[in-house]
Amino acid sequence: MAFPLQRMRRLRQSEPLRRMVRETALAPSDLMYPLFVREGTDRQEAIPSMPGQCRWPLDLLIKEAADAHGLGIPAVMLFGLPVHKDERGTSAYDPNGIVQRAVRALKDQIPDLIVVTDVCIDEYTSHGHCGLVKDGRIINDETLKCLRLMAKTHAEAGADVVAPSDMMDGRVAAIRDELDQRGFEDVPIMSYAAKYASCLYAPFREAALSSPAFGDRCTYQMDPANAREAVREVQLDVEEGADIVMVKPALPYLDVIARARAEVGVPLAAYQVSGEYSMIKAAAQREWLDESKVILETLLSIKRAGADLILTYFAKDAAKLLHASGI
Ligand code: PBG
Repeated sequence: MAFPLQRMRRLRQSEPLRRMVRETALAPSDLMYPLFVREGTDRQEAIPSMPGQCRWPLDLLIKEAADAHGLGIPAVMLFGLPVHKDERGTSAYDPNGIVQRAVRALKDQIPDLIVVTDVCIDEYTSHGHCGLVKDGRIINDETLKCLRLMAKTHAEAGADVVAPSDMMDGRVAAIRDELDQRGFEDVPIMSYAAKYASCLYAPFREAALSSPAFGDRCTYQMDPANAREAVREVQLDVEEGADIVMVKPALPYLDVIARARAEVGVPLAAYQVSGEYSMIKAAAQREWLDESKVILETLLSIKRAGADLILTYFAKDAAKLLHASGI
């Protein structure tokens, strides 16, 4: 059956008709909002390469999170910016560290908000790498000890989900083991399973003050050329006990999202990263693109590719747009 019996335009004639046959829906409940909390300051600091995003002091972080929660966003992801950095990133697993304190305050004041914590030492190390460094190399197994402690102290503070983003091998199994030993067998792990060595993290590194002092992250993050390898990463993390797996970045890696979706049954998250945010903001500021439309189209595309959850700095804007459109 072909034209003229088949006319694809029949079902596109009006918005109600289009809405009726729409395959993908985006909702505020799909979104997670990443937030930066900074120790040792009482002022909010704008992040120049991420217009509209800030480093928050603890009290204002709570206001911002409450705002997002009020818009129907179920979860925030916390990144901590400590005063003290050292070789081993010890302030990452200080029970009284900035993220641990932020988690306690958030769970105390907004109990229904899901608080997810980033588990990775790069913001806490003097060298800015996601693993411990020995003789100029990033060492895997020793780093797992730090990650165990970091995840444990986050769970003790009340984190609802821990999210390792370091890309060390075996970290999901190590964190699962640590949490289970400490009675946190019900705390889920969302692993950054297929995390690429992307140039699109540059604004984040400015925001989080976490650029590596030497070298790059190519010995632990994935080569952007590889998709089959992403399937292995995702499967391994599920075998190690990941409850949710993530692909990151999102828009340039929609094929990876679709493949991961086809390969595993666990919920899949995708991270629309800082550089994706900054590109859209920069084009919108020049009035080259309509910001609201780009936000909704990119997030919808990420969902259509197979993501169940999307981490995005546009979470609040998107939620407002979705509410305004009556969804
Ligand atoms: C590492 C981490 C990074 C991001 C999230 N977790 C930076 C990196 O790997 O260099 C990037 C997120 C973004 O760009 O928005 N802790």
